[in-house]
Amino acid sequence: MRTIAAPFIPWVGGKEKLVPYISQVLPPNAHQLLDPFGGGGALTLGLPTCPSRLDIYNDFNRDLVNLFVCVRDCLLSLLRELDFLPLHSRAEFDDLKALLAHDALPPEEMESWEEKELEIASSFPEEDATELIAILKGKAELRNVRRAAAFYKTSRGSFSGTRSSFGVKRNNIRRFRYQLERASKRLQDVVIENKDAMSLIPERDVPNGIVYCDPPYYEAEQLYEAEFGKRDHVRLFHVLKACKGYVVVSYNDCPYIRNLYKDFFIITLQRDNPMAKKKKSVYRELIITNYDPRQFWDKQLDLFEEPGAKWTMDLVHIPRKVLKQ
Ligand SMILES: C[S@@+](CC[C@H](N)C(=O)[O-])C[C@H]1O[C@@H](n2cnc3c(N)ncnc32)[C@H](O)[C@@H]1O
Repeated sequence: MRTIAAPFIPWVGGKEKLVPYISQVLPPNAHQLLDPFGGGGALTLGLPTCPSRLDIYNDFNRDLVNLFVCVRDCLLSLLRELDFLPLHSRAEFDDLKALLAHDALPPEEMESWEEKELEIASSFPEEDATELIAILKGKAELRNVRRAAAFYKTSRGSFSGTRSSFGVKRNNIRRFRYQLERASKRLQDVVIENKDAMSLIPERDVPNGIVYCDPPYYEAEQLYEAEFGKRDHVRLFHVLKACKGYVVVSYNDCPYIRNLYKDFFIITLQRDNPMAKKKKSVYRELIITNYDPRQFWDKQLDLFEEPGAKWTMDLVHIPRKVLKQ
């Protein structure tokens, strides 16, 4: 499968490599794709746009979502702000981190503040009002674009994209620009949200829609700025069990998750590296569905060779009762 666009920042737990496998168990004619734990956006960006399907990307991380909105709506300003100079020093990295540490106003407050400014501007005679409104809108956009650029630069300039410690790397500037441009095109018709996934899913769930969930891995929740506690895994499970649409969940393979999702179908996705002798060279993920994935599964693809490694996909659990027919 050729993907349309790819994640434009490094993101812990990103599923770029797994998109060909995940996408082959998805119902092909769904009217909606909801990606509530969107992160770097591997699935949303990777799938081709379809005019009869509404795509919704969401993440609880406000700065990440702001970057996605800027890539979609004001790419040129963002590119200008990035200036395509890579990070040269730890001092610059620290300045950008400080900018991000200074919390932006919550979106509701920001909106009402901007609304008030616009209201005042509109009370001027028409010609002045038009000019003032354009300036205010430009100011708001610049503020968001600056934050987005800082977030992008600290992600690119840190070890494994974690934005916590400065790491000098070789930057392929041409590739970065190309990725941003492709992603911007792909995102044009994507709705972008910044909500808690467990409230968003019931709001957006529809019978002929897909809910693809890639939550923080069990016992690796602390890797993200957005808080996700142990109890949230159970909350998410209950929300997903009540869904009317097609549910697909990615998780790390562990007994707790296998047991929690025993009412669902479970597929293991395993990557063996025959050249490496260590145990850690086997890497296993789960793909969990509330419907029988075999109806869409292209068996030709369930074994895939990549240089030095082999991927296999196996259905390892069938529930007694199928939740979604
Ligand atoms: C495993 S990552 C998703 C990776 C993504 N699928 C990709 O390919 O890049 C999990 C994401 O969940 C987000 N997250 C954590 N708690 C959340 C919540 N309550 N609601 C929505 N998103 C949340 C994190 O910010 C993180 O981006």
